[in-house]
Amino acid sequence: MDFSKSRAMQEKAHELIPGGAHTYARGSDQYPELSPGFMLRGSGCRSVDLDGNEFVEYGMGLRAVTLGHAFPSVTEAVCAVVQSGTSFVRPHVDEVETAETLLSFLGKGPDYQVKFAKNGSDVTTAAIKLARAHTGRDLIGICGDHPFFSSDDWFISTTPLSAGIPDSTRALAVEFPFNDLGAFDRILERHGQELAAIILELEADTPAEPGFLEGIAERCRRFGIVFIADEIINAFRLANGGAQELYSIQPHLSTFAKGLGNGVPISALVGRRELMELGGLRTDRDRVFLLSSTYGGDRIGLAAARAVLKTYSTEPVIEHLWSYGQRLRDGFVDMVSAAGLGEFVGLAGRPSNLLFWTKDRTGERSQPYRTLFMQELIARGVLGPSFVDSYAHDDSALDQTLEAVRGALGVYSQAIDAGTTDGLLVGPPTKPAFRRRV
Ligand SMILES: Cc1ncc(COP(=O)(O)O)c(C=O)c1O
Repeated sequence: MDFSKSRAMQEKAHELIPGGAHTYARGSDQYPELSPGFMLRGSGCRSVDLDGNEFVEYGMGLRAVTLGHAFPSVTEAVCAVVQSGTSFVRPHVDEVETAETLLSFLGKGPDYQVKFAKNGSDVTTAAIKLARAHTGRDLIGICGDHPFFSSDDWFISTTPLSAGIPDSTRALAVEFPFNDLGAFDRILERHGQELAAIILELEADTPAEPGFLEGIAERCRRFGIVFIADEIINAFRLANGGAQELYSIQPHLSTFAKGLGNGVPISALVGRRELMELGGLRTDRDRVFLLSSTYGGDRIGLAAARAVLKTYSTEPVIEHLWSYGQRLRDGFVDMVSAAGLGEFVGLAGRPSNLLFWTKDRTGERSQPYRTLFMQELIARGVLGPSFVDSYAHDDSALDQTLEAVRGALGVYSQAIDAGTTDGLLVGPPTKPAFRRRV
């Protein structure tokens, strides 16, 4: 495969844009050297890069494109509103209609309200702010085993990328582990009366153990802590309404984004009325400046969301995401075991949210081996940092993916035998996104 146009564009991009892209997760340090640097277009589960190479894509749109690229009903809905004005001096009726549609889709009754925004970070940050205003407390508990909650300082201060953030912000967060109620209780012994909120995904790559989420919910009630569930990845993927539907848990506040617009920017904070009304005009308490921005109710995102919700309500999207992923997992596991590589490469996560892990010959997690595996998949027309699928992934994509896996495992095996990726991996290995220095 030729990537020469991509290479040239990368040089230019790094001149113009810090990091060469507007999202770190799309950056050149996250992909092998032999990979498409820039994409041009996509349709369904396939996309085309700047050099004209075509790929079956996974993890599409940082997991936001759950229906597939350019999904017709979403595209049509967006085009229709663009032609009749997208932003007015007073709110548009679409704001009310979409709020009603989303709450009903999520099965949230009259005790709940919703406010729309553009990014996932907007709504997780708003949830933290509401919780602080409601409780009059400043401290927040963040699940330290989960990778990402917001690009804002309350979260980024807890990562190695904390330059530019005051220590006083970092001091307002404590971390707790997933699936460990004992550790959570020890945090509550010290900070139970100081915590405004805790935030976690109800499941990331590991399912919640029976009783864990119920225990968290019970303790939040007992200590007056606001329970925030980040459903930004899980909704529209694990189940329509996210992991809370799977586990029958009712958090006080929930955040939605990826999936809600199939890649069109829209996010939503959904929460109990007594909290949400602090941002409204029907409260006697101090008002919270809650998610008010020029593009907050823009019709493009709202139109995309309504088309997405209609599709999820009428078509077996979740079933497809799970069954495709399960078939991919079954084929993958067979090939890995046939290649004798079961200790070195494998899959984690639910079928609709499959991640791959890679280890070297000593059994250590390895970025060079991860990069080599991605490089070899890409060379066979499969692009992605994971096997996170979409409604558009079909039988032919599955066949192509499994063929690519077979070929990639052959090269992986050579590297394991040699004890090194040297001579097989072209260019530097990928690096963790959250590191202090380049
Ligand atoms: C679980 C989770 N929460 C929050 C966010 C932040 O969303 P955004 O990047 O749209 O601000 C992300 C983004 O990857 C995420 O995966």
